[in-house]
Amino acid sequence: MRVLLAGGAGYVGTHTAIALLEAGHDVVLLDDLTNTSGIVSERIHQITGKRAPLVAGNAAHVDDVERAFDDFGPFDSIMHFAAKKAVGESVQQPLAYYRNNLDTTYTLVKVGLQRGISSFIFSSTGTVYSDPADLPFTEEASRNLVELSNPYSKSKLMNEVVLTDVQRVHPELNVTLLRYFNPVGAHPSGLVGEDPKGIPNNLMPFVARVAVGALPAINVFGTDYDTPDGTGLRDYIHVVDLAEGHVAALEKARPGLAAYNLGTGKPVSVLELISSFERAVGRELPKVMAPRRDGDLAATYCDPSKAERELGWKAERSIDDMTRDVWNWQQRNPSGYEA
Ligand code: WQD
Repeated sequence: MRVLLAGGAGYVGTHTAIALLEAGHDVVLLDDLTNTSGIVSERIHQITGKRAPLVAGNAAHVDDVERAFDDFGPFDSIMHFAAKKAVGESVQQPLAYYRNNLDTTYTLVKVGLQRGISSFIFSSTGTVYSDPADLPFTEEASRNLVELSNPYSKSKLMNEVVLTDVQRVHPELNVTLLRYFNPVGAHPSGLVGEDPKGIPNNLMPFVARVAVGALPAINVFGTDYDTPDGTGLRDYIHVVDLAEGHVAALEKARPGLAAYNLGTGKPVSVLELISSFERAVGRELPKVMAPRRDGDLAATYCDPSKAERELGWKAERSIDDMTRDVWNWQQRNPSGYEA
């Protein structure tokens, strides 16, 4: 099938483009390149031997989306990765987050419906689940907007509501909501990976920067949680497993509207992730036990059985696979894509 990847030059988009090409689909990337580099197009070709044309543009702008269809359409599906996604930043910049994360969806759906797409696959998040008492989260777990702690998560839940209402009056459009847990890792080639600008908010890229000596020490945010080792538990999923989940959703999703958790269902603590990274590096890494970070949950992880049942997809890669591939990417690209 022919797929337009909005935000397709980003971390998850790039890995998904590779998985789609390797599964025999055609892909076109639409990206404003504010949080990535155009170099990924060449890296995708190096890995797959196939081309993923890159349209420089903003998914919220009708003219840019129309241009992608005019120049490279028609498309069977749009996969929508084009969002701002830093939880802490969203608290400081709510308007920018609601504007960007909703306008992109409005525009992509509007143009997509006019141009006859049959599938819209949305990059959602496990942070839409609002009640820790529901752990491990199934797709039916509580999702109460007012109980979510930040504009990022709220904007993603609002998107799900918009897409649900649109699909109800457009039965010709299949909508699939993919709720990611914690995507980490990099393609085993070491040619593509996560390349956050500035000092990383997230644990895995921060540990990688400490491992290469770009940052002095890891701050462990909180050692007094009600968890086995006192540090936060998360459901880390290898980005290649996540990408393969998108191929399964494109090929297997049922008509209508469906949501799927894309996670491993196996919670890993901060200290366990750091130990895994130390095994990959072959030495201990400097770490500081620090106070909890505002807004953090003690634990979040999913029950991924619905995706396995209905999409025939299951995350296969371990935390050691994730840290090994991040270390390989970080060593080969100490400054990310900007050589
Ligand atoms: C993980 C754990 C921290 C940094 C992310 C994304 C969000 C969403 C879900 C997609 C926590 C601890 C962190 C550090 C630490 N993704 N930590 N030291 O907060 O779960 O959210 O995944 O929707 O967009 O932000 O991920 O990597 O920031 O934190 O101890 O320097 O690591 O307390 O327990 P989080 P994270």
